Amino acid sequence: MPRRKPRPGEEMTITAEEFKQGMRMLCGGVTIVTTKHAGQASGLTATAVCSLSAEPPRILACINRGGTTYGMVSQSRRFCVNVLTADQAELASCFAGMLRIGTEDRFNYGEWTRLTTGSPVLEDALASFDCTVSSIMDTGSHAIIIGDIVEVQVSPGGDPLLYMDGQFSTRGPIPDNGAGKGGARSSSAA
Ligand SMILES: Cc1cc2nc3c(=O)[nH]c(=O)nc-3n(C[C@H](O)[C@H](O)[C@H](O)COP(=O)(O)O)c2cc1C
Repeated sequence: MPRRKPRPGEEMTITAEEFKQGMRMLCGGVTIVTTKHAGQASGLTATAVCSLSAEPPRILACINRGGTTYGMVSQSRRFCVNVLTADQAELASCFAGMLRIGTEDRFNYGEWTRLTTGSPVLEDALASFDCTVSSIMDTGSHAIIIGDIVEVQVSPGGDPLLYMDGQFSTRGPIPDNGAGKGGARSSSAA
């Protein structure tokens, strides 16, 4: 049902359910954010990850402060963002806690290695960004974790794992209306 407009001077807010309904329409690339602290590895599936700057090379991740991985990253001050391929949906479910597998046991799935910081690096990820923590901004239930990227490993060519409306998917061609062939620019030039 459409919401009524706020009266002048009235504060407008939305419910958590309305927030989720909207956010389900935002398609995200799926990653696994990992860390290692005091010899123990931890990691979670995350879509709230994005590029911050190229100079200096920085990335950010929004992580739930109530989870195991947030506690570990805030102590270890290092993490790795692993960008998943389309055939890693089961791994994403595992690291999202959907298969009820404990924190350390999640690493029994997939092939893991390490780069500079020692955080777990997924061998056949599309890309892995190995980071030291630049800053952490706590904001309500979540924290924005900004990482200085110290090493990157890229394996291009695979299809990405995407998440939208509660489902994993991958990319497909856009409708053949000309826009996918650089139509916006070529039609205005015509
Ligand atoms: C597709 C997908 C995306 C997710 N994205 C995030 C995210 O960006 N940040 C977050 O804190 N949790 C996210 N989650 C939830 C965590 O993966 C889940 O709560 C996980 O079990 C937390 O593990 P932890 O307790 O080791 O931190 C996502 C879950 C799914 C299925």
